[in-house]
Amino acid sequence: MSCTIRAALPSDEATWRQLWRGYCDFYGTQLPEEVTNRTWKRILDPDSQVMCVVAEVDGQVYGFAHCVVHENTWETQAVCYLEDLYVTPAARGHGVGTALLEWLRNAMRAEGWARLYWMTKADNAEARRLYDRFTQADDFVRYVVRLK
Ligand SMILES: CC(C)(COP(=O)(O)OP(=O)(O)OC[C@H]1O[C@@H](n2cnc3c(N)ncnc32)[C@H](O)[C@@H]1OP(=O)(O)O)[C@@H](O)C(=O)NCCC(=O)NCCS
Repeated sequence: MSCTIRAALPSDEATWRQLWRGYCDFYGTQLPEEVTNRTWKRILDPDSQVMCVVAEVDGQVYGFAHCVVHENTWETQAVCYLEDLYVTPAARGHGVGTALLEWLRNAMRAEGWARLYWMTKADNAEARRLYDRFTQADDFVRYVVRLK
């Protein structure tokens, strides 16, 4: 299977929206339409720190990775936070998720990001099997304070 990883294009919008809905469903979340619209807008905006790469096989997009490249206080170089990773259920287990992560690891080297990092739920066994092949999880714990 030959999987191409590339930046999302305006023509990916319908498929991206479908995949994004699947990802939100996976997390049991219903996001307001304005959030989805703004996310898509930022993905296409070259001045935004949000980026999206999609995984395409035979002209069909099966998954995406969303990242935010940002400054940090521990390095002189920027770092890349992988915020969302998703592969449509029917396409899982064929290396699409691996291809997306490998592409990001190569981009890290090419762009000079000091690191690529992400988090997942402790009980997300499927994702963690994949992640464990890239690196070891550390022991940081996430705290979140919300506006509402
Ligand atoms: C996590 C997720 C992105 C993985 O995507 P994926 O495309 O299935 O990942 P891969 O196919 O690269 O790897 C998964 C398995 O397929 C196997 N695999 C990899 N390449 C393969 C290939 N060419 N042929 C067959 N199997 C392959 C891997 O060995 C792995 O098997 P394992 O479970 O025994 O370790 C996907 O399951 C998903 O979207 N889950 C729901 C959302 C989610 O949890 N996202 C992460 C939130 S942090």
